[in-house]
Amino acid sequence: MDLAQAKEKLAKYGQEHVLKYYDELNEQEKDALLAQIDATDMSLLEVCRHREELEKKGVITPLAAMQLPEIEENREAFTAVGLEAIKAGKLGAVLLAGGMGTRLGSDNPKGMYNVGLTRDLYIFECLVNNLLNVVRQADTWIHLFVMTSDKNHKATVAFLKEHDYFGYRAEYVHFFMQEMAAATDYEGKIYLEEKGRLSTSPNGNGGWFISMKNTGLLELVKKEGIEWLNVFAVDNVLQKIADPCFLGATIRKNCAVGAKVVRKNAPDEKVGVMCLEDGRPSIVEYYELTEDLMNAKDEKGDPVYYFGVILNYLFRVQDLIAILDKHLPLHIVEKKIPYLNEAGELVKPDAPNGFKFENLVLDMIHQMESCLPYEVVREKEFAPIKNMTGIDSVESARALLQQNGVTL
Ligand code: UTP
Repeated sequence: MDLAQAKEKLAKYGQEHVLKYYDELNEQEKDALLAQIDATDMSLLEVCRHREELEKKGVITPLAAMQLPEIEENREAFTAVGLEAIKAGKLGAVLLAGGMGTRLGSDNPKGMYNVGLTRDLYIFECLVNNLLNVVRQADTWIHLFVMTSDKNHKATVAFLKEHDYFGYRAEYVHFFMQEMAAATDYEGKIYLEEKGRLSTSPNGNGGWFISMKNTGLLELVKKEGIEWLNVFAVDNVLQKIADPCFLGATIRKNCAVGAKVVRKNAPDEKVGVMCLEDGRPSIVEYYELTEDLMNAKDEKGDPVYYFGVILNYLFRVQDLIAILDKHLPLHIVEKKIPYLNEAGELVKPDAPNGFKFENLVLDMIHQMESCLPYEVVREKEFAPIKNMTGIDSVESARALLQQNGVTL
């Protein structure tokens, strides 16, 4: 793209300001900026002017979860089915680690955070330890795909390598980068993060499978005969990954997706809950849950929208391939975005100052024909680290790790 074409594109979307420092750049920087302008999808920025339309939901009805008593009753049978599939190499694990972790506020990738107190214990290490439990149980290595982003790829790869993958076998660890999207102010104007660089941020965790395809890893998945992918977040240090019982239950129920869920703490707890939307599996966010839905009960008197997702899903690969061409809805998220101020100085804001544009993995559930919500015990499998202190924090996760016998 040359300067005239860039100007034309920018004028079409009202983004001419990003060329403010163009004349100050050297030739290389000029080329890089023009290439970035060319590669950036600016049509999506328009949507922040009519956000409400994005959030329209269909008709919500209950979707029953498989609850703990049923799981306990069938634990042995489900586990046998799951282990057989794992031993046959049919399961891969996908670690979503492309996020910026802005709430935690560390400059490093979140997985590098040390939760240890008397020894080093990194978030990545907790996750690898959890996966290694299953590798030992099944006596089979499981391919681990790690999604990073432009912002944290180098640091993540170097850190895991330096720590020898915390005992995981290197040839079973595969890194891939997700795509980026431009970040804007509240008027939808793209920020600059350098004089010759648009401000970008990872485009959400919903693009993971497309990125696996774009980076060639889907070919490996097919070649290895992997039929299921267990997608999980970087921040839940207690979660069970590649859980044989969960896999067995999802296979037995012949569902396209399994979703680990926990019973809510209170009707108004801020988690997305499983439901049907227009007859298809879906997740309704806490802020979309009306008072009526929040308090709805089944014939036994149990609350029906009561099982919150914890970002640990099993997807059947054939069903993922079938939805590759389908678009996911766009979410506009308020975030703290570093930017150049009027004086051309870099500012790292303390409070949100604009929008990021994201696709979310939870929207993939709605594209699937069937989903098994699978209950897990919160205190044993849910210790997310979003903040330094308070709810879902380093503090609360440490307490839960200790409660589960992990020495910190
Ligand atoms: P969060 O919603 O907690 O987002 O991600 P975040 O960016 O990590 O953190 P905050 O909101 O800035 O504090 C949930 C999971 O999805 C991954 C994260 O790494 C985490 O495992 N994720 C998020 C991605 O892989 N890519 C993204 O673009 C966003």
